[in-house]
Order: sequence, then structure tokens, then C-alpha cells
Amino acid sequence: MGKTILGIETSCDDTSVCILKETDSYPKILALKSFEQIDLLKKWGGVVPEIAARNHLKKITPLLDEVFEEANLTPKDIDVIGVTTHPGLLGPLLTGLNAAKTLALLYQKPIVPVNHLFAHLEAIHLTQKVQYPYMGLLISGGHSIYFWVESELKFKVIGSTIDDAAGEAFDKGGKLMGLGYPAGKTIDDLAKTGDKSKFDFPIGLKSSADARLSFSGLKTSMRLRLEKNPELLESPNPDLCASYQDAIVKALLLKARYAIKSIKEKFNVKNFPIVIGGGVACNSAIRSAFTEKHTNVHIVEPHYCTDNGAMIANYTLRIQEHAIPFPECLELDSRGRFINKKDFV
Ligand code: KG4
Ligand code: ZN
Repeated sequence: MGKTILGIETSCDDTSVCILKETDSYPKILALKSFEQIDLLKKWGGVVPEIAARNHLKKITPLLDEVFEEANLTPKDIDVIGVTTHPGLLGPLLTGLNAAKTLALLYQKPIVPVNHLFAHLEAIHLTQKVQYPYMGLLISGGHSIYFWVESELKFKVIGSTIDDAAGEAFDKGGKLMGLGYPAGKTIDDLAKTGDKSKFDFPIGLKSSADARLSFSGLKTSMRLRLEKNPELLESPNPDLCASYQDAIVKALLLKARYAIKSIKEKFNVKNFPIVIGGGVACNSAIRSAFTEKHTNVHIVEPHYCTDNGAMIANYTLRIQEHAIPFPECLELDSRGRFINKKDFV
């Protein structure tokens, strides 16, 4: 009999819970419920950790009730609970972890502590068959990392951003253009009718032959352009969005080439799949650019790209043998950062 997993995600501003069942093929999602805090956080122009944590606290119990009702199960039927423990905002993380621990205490269940970044990439297994090893490109609001992934738990960092993440580049650029928060999807939508050759934007660390990314110069160049040409702010500008987005796409493609080269040299491999995940992997220009330029590219379904409980439940299922049994799991703690420095190569 396949295992039944409960996944809980509260690392940033989305409260999301999922009940998923192991099958012989792809995991079957029995129920997935999320609450996006976007509307509540909009007036602050971004995520305020303390407010986000309070909202998680309000939403987590009703969402849990809803998934159990929809799946027609009770917590007793769950085999393993998976919860994001790192990285993320500490207050929000602790809210999800304490919900998981409460259920573990009441129903004597084991818990899998989940690395949010690994779960983003491994979400590919919800809908596609991909073999290890693969190169993972994780692009989210907080991280941009090229990984060499040898197994469910062996993630080595090949290169990452030295300043802003790709999602931050979208959100901060969008804020400057007056497009609200978060701006990734708005820029993506506006760019569809824009001319990407209209404005020139810089590609960070263009001349350094490695897989490091940098997006802070891009954001500054948008700020300077808008200060010089305030008329560009009169209405949403598809050409400006398309040009700005194109610089992000080009940077990710360029540094992917260096990441591939470095993997080939370091690990003595020829061909391998590329997996792309994280909220920014929803971006239509990034999806088509990578699919055109590379063969064997697997991009997480847009529905599972932004933070969600299904990716947590799915990853929990994949590493279920690492579950911490009850009552030891009640000792679990959260940490805000991705600190596996020994996995950097
Ligand atoms: O993975 P995610 O939901 O949260 C983190 O773990 O950070 O990613 C959120 C990020 C935000 O920066 C948002 O603007 C971006 O994903 N995003 C997009 C798109 N949809 C969401 N960026 C570009 N194009 C999109 N279509
Ligand atoms: Zn995320």
C-alpha cells in the first residue's frame, strides 16, 4: 500500500498544505489548498516577516481542516508529515513547523524536515520522469542557484547569485516601474506584447566565465533609466518590461552554459537533463528560451513552481526513509538559511 503524506509549506508568504498518495506512477494529489497573502501584503510593498507569520497562524488550521475533508481522511490516516524547515523566514517557518509538531504529538506521527529549495526542483517528479544526475536551476524570490543533483539528497552548488535573486530582480524592477508586488507575472504578461530590443539592459557578470549570477546592476540600471526618462512611468510599458525581462533570460542562459561546462569538467559527464523550478520558472520567456536552446529540459509545471504544499509532500515521499520518528521529531527546529556549505563545489 502506498504511503499517505501530509505536506506543509509556510516558508514565506504562501500558506499551503497538501495530502498526497504514493502510487506506482506519479504521486496522486488527494487535496491541495493554499492561501496567498499577496493582497494582505500589497500595501507594504513586500513581505513583512512578522505579519506573514501571523497570517500563517490564522490560515493553517482552516486549510488543514479543508484538505482532510476534501481527501476524506483524518490525521490518523497520514503516514508521514513533511514540513519546510529551511530556508525561509524564521517566523513563518516556525508556524508551519509547530503545526506539524502538534499533529505529530496528537497522532504520534514521524516528521520529515524539508529543504524548500530541493523540494522546488524535485517537484519535477510530480509530473515528469527524470533520472539522476541532473543539473537543477532553482530560480525563486529568494534564491538563484545552479545545482548538480546526484540523488534526492545530494545537491551540490555550481553557482549562485552574488546579490539579488532572479525573482527579486523581477519584483524590484517591477516596483520601480510602479507595477506592484510581486511583479514577476505582471512583467511576464506585459512583455508578451513588447519589443525586447527597444531598451538596453546590462547582463550581470557577463565577462566572468563562471556560473555566478548578479542582478543588482540590472535593477540599478532600471532606476537610472526611469530617473532620466520619467515619462516611461506614465503607463505600463510593454517594451520596457520585455527588454528588462530579456536581460534576465539572457543572464540565466549564459550562466547555464558555464554551469554545464563546469559540471562536465568536474564530474566527467557528457549529457544530462536540466530541471528548472521555483516561482520564476513560471516565466514564459524563460520556459521557451531554455526549451529552444537545450534538449532534455524539464520545467516544473507552472502550478507547482510557486510555493506550494504539493512540492513539500512530494519531496517528503521521496526521502521518507529520513523521517524523524515520534517523539524525537518534537525536537525539530527551523533555520532560516541554506547552510549546507559542504555541498558547495
Ligand atoms: O518560489 P516562489 O513562490 O517563492 C520563493 O521561494 O521565493 O517564487 C516567488 C517569485 C516572486 O519573485 C515572483 O515575482 C516570481 O516568483 N514569479 C515570476 C513569475 N511568477 C512568479 N517571475 C517571473 N515570471 C513569472 N511569470
Ligand atoms: Zn519557494
